Amino acid sequence: MKILGIETSCDETAAAVVEDGDKILSNQIASQVEIHARYGGIVPEVASRQHILSIIPIIEQAMTEAKADWDDLGGIAVTMGPGLAGSLLVGVNMAKSVALARGLPVTGVNHLEGHIYANWLTDHSVKPAPTFPLVCLIVSGGHSDLVVMKRHGDYVVLGRTRDDAAGEAFDKAARILGLGYPGGPAIEKAAKDGTTSLQLPRAWLKGTSDFSFSGVKTALLRLVERGEVSSPADAAASFQEAVVDTLVTKTVAAATEHRVKQILLAGGVASNKRLRSWLVKDSPIPVLIPEPVLCTDNAAMIAACGYYRFKAGKADGLDLDVIPGLKLA
Ligand code: KG4
Ligand code: ZN
Repeated sequence: MKILGIETSCDETAAAVVEDGDKILSNQIASQVEIHARYGGIVPEVASRQHILSIIPIIEQAMTEAKADWDDLGGIAVTMGPGLAGSLLVGVNMAKSVALARGLPVTGVNHLEGHIYANWLTDHSVKPAPTFPLVCLIVSGGHSDLVVMKRHGDYVVLGRTRDDAAGEAFDKAARILGLGYPGGPAIEKAAKDGTTSLQLPRAWLKGTSDFSFSGVKTALLRLVERGEVSSPADAAASFQEAVVDTLVTKTVAAATEHRVKQILLAGGVASNKRLRSWLVKDSPIPVLIPEPVLCTDNAAMIAACGYYRFKAGKADGLDLDVIPGLKLA
């Protein structure tokens, strides 16, 4: 079954066609990064206007690249939340319009669930499909969630961030160090030339699977304010080390405690090389991580998740609406 996925929750307008939940036939992304970079962050009103301009060409490109005809599709999957209301509305209304015009079923996908399903987008003769039960760490610009999945569509949240999300912390640290936007890739790049010599705190929040990153961010800010940071590269490397240390240690602890068969990594921060290698090295449990381009926002992951939703009979009606604060569980 071929699914058209549509993603407009934040600053990427994306469309993709995925077959049977794992085979990517096309994956088109129109990034707005350069537009928002001049403001140092995402401007919601600008984002939704840009989605309106990009959505039709991006869907047409995805259908053309996939050599798909509307009649080939089994359904449309669209991100319904969490995200920016005005941005989400563009994708959801487009999905409903096409569904109505072409007589196709539509399903609303939770963006975070989509990130998890990026792990199913592989050639299973090369890389195995995820095995349940599993623990997934979702680390994006707005979330740092640790969840247990026992079967498709079933999530128990073990912990989440109490303040800044991991990606948000990277973005703020990059701003403090004057490294630009988006911060995650900027910190990672600067860290390559640095040493982890700065002492930065880790909030362990022992006995919980929650995270907190505002302490390490504030500690970095104080060092900069006191003029104690002579090398931005060392600061970037030390900051990345502190955040990754916490993420890896708490994820491995949760996975071990819950005796799962697999650890999945998901979300934009999962494209960070230090996080990827450290988790694989430290985990006694097999780890799966999507390729970097599937960690950051894309529509293939939404189509993959949509496939499993349709299989479970979870189609929505044309009254499908956006839920900007949608939770995973
Ligand atoms: O999942 P995503 O693309 O969008 C959201 O759903 O939020 O994640 C974006 C976040 C941003 O905060 C960005 O700075 C961070 O992921 N990010 C990274 C890297 N690439 C993106 N953080 C650390 N290292 C990276 N290489
Ligand atoms: Zn995302």
